[in-house]
Amino acid sequence: MAIASGAKKVTTHTLQEMKRNGEKITMLTSYDYSLARLVDAAGIDVILVGDSASNVMAGNESTVPITLEHMIYHAQCVVNGVERALVVVDMPFGSYQGDSKTALDSAIRIMKESGGHSVKLEGGVEVVESIERILTAGIPVMGHLGLTPQSIYKFGTYTVRAKGNTEAEKLIEDAKALEAAGCFAIVFEKIPAELAKRVSEELTIPTIGIGAGIDCDGQVLVLHDMLGITKDFSPRFLRRYADLGDSIDGAVKAYISDVRDKTFPSDDESY
Ligand code: KIV
Repeated sequence: MAIASGAKKVTTHTLQEMKRNGEKITMLTSYDYSLARLVDAAGIDVILVGDSASNVMAGNESTVPITLEHMIYHAQCVVNGVERALVVVDMPFGSYQGDSKTALDSAIRIMKESGGHSVKLEGGVEVVESIERILTAGIPVMGHLGLTPQSIYKFGTYTVRAKGNTEAEKLIEDAKALEAAGCFAIVFEKIPAELAKRVSEELTIPTIGIGAGIDCDGQVLVLHDMLGITKDFSPRFLRRYADLGDSIDGAVKAYISDVRDKTFPSDDESY
């Protein structure tokens, strides 16, 4: 599908074609109109309306408190700013774990009320029934394995997952189950690079890594982390591409000083 700028809209099929062609998939989070518009215009393939909005936007300790209504609101804002990218919306904690009917109802609300193009949910074989039911409504589903932040209170730590054989075998089994269920892609979060390489090679659907090494079919980062807005989070996998935190600090301090010194506004800035 072509859009005003002449570029083609990214679809789930585009991502599968990119994997087949060996082209890397780029994905970043966004939670609002203004930043989503910039990220989309810069040419990103996929925008994830992540439930990391719970941490980044709301200042919560985990992703657990964010609600379906919050996610729909963030997704609506993002969709309004996007022309080209595929918009994936995280299903929040509690909106799909109960049973597959609840999962379907939540996914339908996300699609209908936000205008997003697909949903993402965390987990392996235990969520396969929900994934299959969501897919019956024609809603594309992205999976998420490895570190699954919605289960943080079960695991108690954000360390690398699937380092041992048992956990690695479980991840491989889960990834294959998600592919068989019909997921169009899977996020691998914080797992050994070797394991991510092996599973990426074995799957026909794309894998998108965050802390999962170079051999995933694509990469994702949280926008506010890579822009240097969140300064207190520095995991090894994070590369900072800007220091907006410092720029914002400098700009706000300059404004405060100009107002206090009575040098803002000038005559030219007045009517
Ligand atoms: O919510 C989020 O930002 C995510 C990414 C870390 C993949 O799920």
